[in-house]
Amino acid sequence: MASKKFFTKELLQWNKYDNDRVMPWKYEKDPFKIWISEIILQQTRVSQGLEYYNRFIKRFPTVKTIAIAPEHEVFKLWEGLGYYTRCKNIIESAKYISEELNGNFPKTYEDILKLKGIGSYTASAIASFAYKLPYAVLDGNVFRVLSRYFGIKIPIDNLQGKMFYTKLAKDLLDKKNPGIYNQSIMDFGATICKPLPLCEICPLNSRCVAYLHDMQLELPVKEKIIVRKSRWLYYLVVKYNNKFYVRKREEKDIWQNLYEFILLEAAKPNTIKKLQASEKFNSIFKSNEYKIESTSQLYTQQLTHQTINGQFINITVKASLELHNYQLTAMDKIKQLPFPKFITTYLKD
Ligand code: ADE
Repeated sequence: MASKKFFTKELLQWNKYDNDRVMPWKYEKDPFKIWISEIILQQTRVSQGLEYYNRFIKRFPTVKTIAIAPEHEVFKLWEGLGYYTRCKNIIESAKYISEELNGNFPKTYEDILKLKGIGSYTASAIASFAYKLPYAVLDGNVFRVLSRYFGIKIPIDNLQGKMFYTKLAKDLLDKKNPGIYNQSIMDFGATICKPLPLCEICPLNSRCVAYLHDMQLELPVKEKIIVRKSRWLYYLVVKYNNKFYVRKREEKDIWQNLYEFILLEAAKPNTIKKLQASEKFNSIFKSNEYKIESTSQLYTQQLTHQTINGQFINITVKASLELHNYQLTAMDKIKQLPFPKFITTYLKD
């Protein structure tokens, strides 16, 4: 049956034999690169994360390169990953390290944790990988692995659960090799003990409580249900003189710092006719003549707390519009700006 001693031993053994598929961040010692890889891997699968990581590190190999880059270039390499606040935080922290810390990455857990956008998980990863400090990581992968192996039914998303798992993760940590242990458990969660786990080939299955009781899919337990709000975004892709009106989203909302076309937002679905009759639509065109050239299919995208639905309406005008905040932008320039995935999907189609 599951025991703490066997868990750590078996996990490290698995890691040793699993080195044919080494990812660039595995055994990385540069705190900057660990930081970037961990933020990327918090929001995407390893296979997709790899592409983003390689592109990002190629263009921005050091803290300094981010600190001095135009922001939209950093966002452009983040485009499609989601959670754009994380990108903004990377820029802010890079500037802080570069300007206030003389370019020296902080070297203790507490100082790493002070950086904007770095929580206990990322701080533990950086401290253990880069400096061999004994901090255990606890993220979605780790919750899943531990709850299954030890058959724990305490919900992971309440205070009691967080405290319980934090203590367990700490007990299990290999204090001599905290970095290798942390990397192993995350990698194990990402490749074997996945949401749909590969139990049949798992070398830890003979002691895994969930496997032995066939409850892998019920673990980990969460007590909160996510309620998603629906939003309807109608984008007017207005062309004048071969250019399009775009603006940067500045407000505190999804996609802050990314760009978009002229937006009409609603809480409910709308017909094009209804939109045309709306006050907002008329305040955009006023007495200008416009022509609707085509309308796109309906697009949807699930975010953590919102369902985004929407449509793109291609419009041409013969005279320029008087719009606050929107800039007329040519297609080659648009391609260099960061847009939400919702819009790039449409642009690719
Ligand atoms: N997910 C988050 N961090 C990871 C890492 N370092 N390796 C594999 N999967 C991860």
